[in-house]
Amino acid sequence: MSDHFAIKMQPIRDYNNRPKAENPLKIQDLTLRDGHQSLFATRGRTEDMIPVAEMMDDIGFWGVEVWGGATFDTMHRFLNEDPWDRLRTLKRYFKKTPLSMLLRGQNIVGYRNYADDVAKAFVEKAAENGMDVFRTFDALNDFRNFETVMAAIKDCKRHFQGCICYSLTEPRMGGEVYNLEYYLNKAKDLENMGADSICIKDMAGLMAPYDAFELISALKAATSIPIHLHSHFTSGMAPMTHLKAVEAGVDIIDTCMTSYAYRTSHPAVEPMVMSLIGTSRDTGFDIHKLAKINDVLEKEVLPKYKHLLDDSKVSIIDINVLLHQTPGGMLSNLVNQLREMDALDRIDEVYKELPKVRKDLGQIPLVTPTSQIVGIQTVNNVLFDTEDEKYKMITGQVKDLCYGLYGKTAVPINPELQKKALKGYERGETPITCRPGEVLSPELPKARKDLEGLTDDMEDIILYTLYPVTGKKFLMYKYGKETPPDSMRPKTLDDVKKEQELIVKAKAGKLIEKKTEPVHEMGKNARTFKVLVDGDYFEVKVEEPGAPQSAAAAQPMPAPARPVAPVRAAMAAPAAPIVRPVTPAPAPSKPSAPKPAEKIAVAESVDGTPLLAPMPGMIVSYAKNIGDPVEKGQPVVILEAMKMENALPAPVSGVVRAINFKSGDSAPKNAVLCVIG
Ligand code: CO
Repeated sequence: MSDHFAIKMQPIRDYNNRPKAENPLKIQDLTLRDGHQSLFATRGRTEDMIPVAEMMDDIGFWGVEVWGGATFDTMHRFLNEDPWDRLRTLKRYFKKTPLSMLLRGQNIVGYRNYADDVAKAFVEKAAENGMDVFRTFDALNDFRNFETVMAAIKDCKRHFQGCICYSLTEPRMGGEVYNLEYYLNKAKDLENMGADSICIKDMAGLMAPYDAFELISALKAATSIPIHLHSHFTSGMAPMTHLKAVEAGVDIIDTCMTSYAYRTSHPAVEPMVMSLIGTSRDTGFDIHKLAKINDVLEKEVLPKYKHLLDDSKVSIIDINVLLHQTPGGMLSNLVNQLREMDALDRIDEVYKELPKVRKDLGQIPLVTPTSQIVGIQTVNNVLFDTEDEKYKMITGQVKDLCYGLYGKTAVPINPELQKKALKGYERGETPITCRPGEVLSPELPKARKDLEGLTDDMEDIILYTLYPVTGKKFLMYKYGKETPPDSMRPKTLDDVKKEQELIVKAKAGKLIEKKTEPVHEMGKNARTFKVLVDGDYFEVKVEEPGAPQSAAAAQPMPAPARPVAPVRAAMAAPAAPIVRPVTPAPAPSKPSAPKPAEKIAVAESVDGTPLLAPMPGMIVSYAKNIGDPVEKGQPVVILEAMKMENALPAPVSGVVRAINFKSGDSAPKNAVLCVIG
């Protein structure tokens, strides 16, 4: 069957005057979404995309992925940017190339299944603002979770691309679950549903080159819609996998511009363009134009983000992915999680337990959010199970999964575990078998009511529904009710230059030791930088140009917690929190949470037992007010860490004596959240 796609070659004498290929490979660029999401925590700003947008529009990409995935979250949470604005802005620059987004099916761009009204409104607004291609996936490959969004995408006359998450239970494609037949059946399901194209989403870079050849050849023979391959570089196999997929006739592949490529991102576009020149699959792209784009990214954009790159490793591939067939990000989360619990020595037990937990949970693919669900439960089992009791501490998400709230698993869940997990479960002890969206009631009316007086704009309402706490905070900034913190301001090339100068100075030993009294009161425009000098962190204040330069006071501070920490069912503190997926916070209009006027320095002034934050996170709400009685084990505080809500229980029975934070505040690890006495 591959004969049809055999690569034919002809000599090329004039690079600029190549004959059009018989079957040119189409390429989608991911630089502006998956590229910066994979390499620097999705912190890319719109202003840094504009300088290359028109040049990229001129290349001839099949599409440019610029939105969705984690962008919606990080933009409003960390960058003080309206995600809808980015879409409108980029649409003005990309006049020829279709814009593409990553949609998490019924999870939209969040981490749980949302109600149908939210899913439909989101798609309509995205289409209205210029989105062309909706790449849609579901963590369980349960395509019932596509139904609502697909209907909306089709109504808007946009491209519906259905994804199949590529997963393995063995070193190669095959075995009882993720074999060729599985993928072919899923592909046929998508074609029958009415998908415009099919994407094989290899999020962990697990696909081996010859498996790609077999899979793509079979898909091309069995279906008649375009086949698109998305393979991350993480394990190092992706460039070879791409080439074999091209030989098997893949229609479209995903790449990034070189400076945003490799490591946990994707293969670069330029080597593929050169590899195919003069063949029947020549992309027709101009390598000189690509080089110019890279030049701008290298010189004008990347210096601002360099500090976000994980440079802790020299090696650009993650060998553990090859050893364990598990996503790289998931493995590093497990390591961080164990480290923070002082249990890193148990990593081998975790590696051993992981496939068992995954099997018990129905051999689900490992991708956001299922990778976290399996990862956390595995750590719980290793740390807390005893000889006579397995699954001693079951997370809230595992309960939801057992109930059917994420959809249907690849194979049935272990019935014993399911029964145990659903004992006393709030929605009922009998699991559902219907599409999860059917049991969720509409969410927009309540959100609209919550925002009354602030905004009635549907885009704002959707943002708030997806992210109740941080979304509300962002809307307060947007409408001038609150001032965004300094840390949300963009970094400029000038800032980068100043930091460099400071580092040089610090290395030369020319930084002044911290004085007890500041020599000079810093203006309100002064900015604080953290600089790393020979392994020590320094906090440095810098004022805007023109202001009197003074006291570059350097003071060693503890190394900051890693920005991306794993989700934990953290058990370090007095009692373990119950980990829940994020659900809407209580309506701000009905303040069930108390409003402590000031932060109280409790530890010294109030007697009692403190409830400590077991992990750094953001306060969602308090379930109790000052003066309320509380029983040991009752949830007192909801703390969000890594997008999961953790219900922290009271360490003792008593009365709430002090509350130290309010909704939306961040709390460092071991912060005293409240005192019970
Ligand atoms: Co990806």
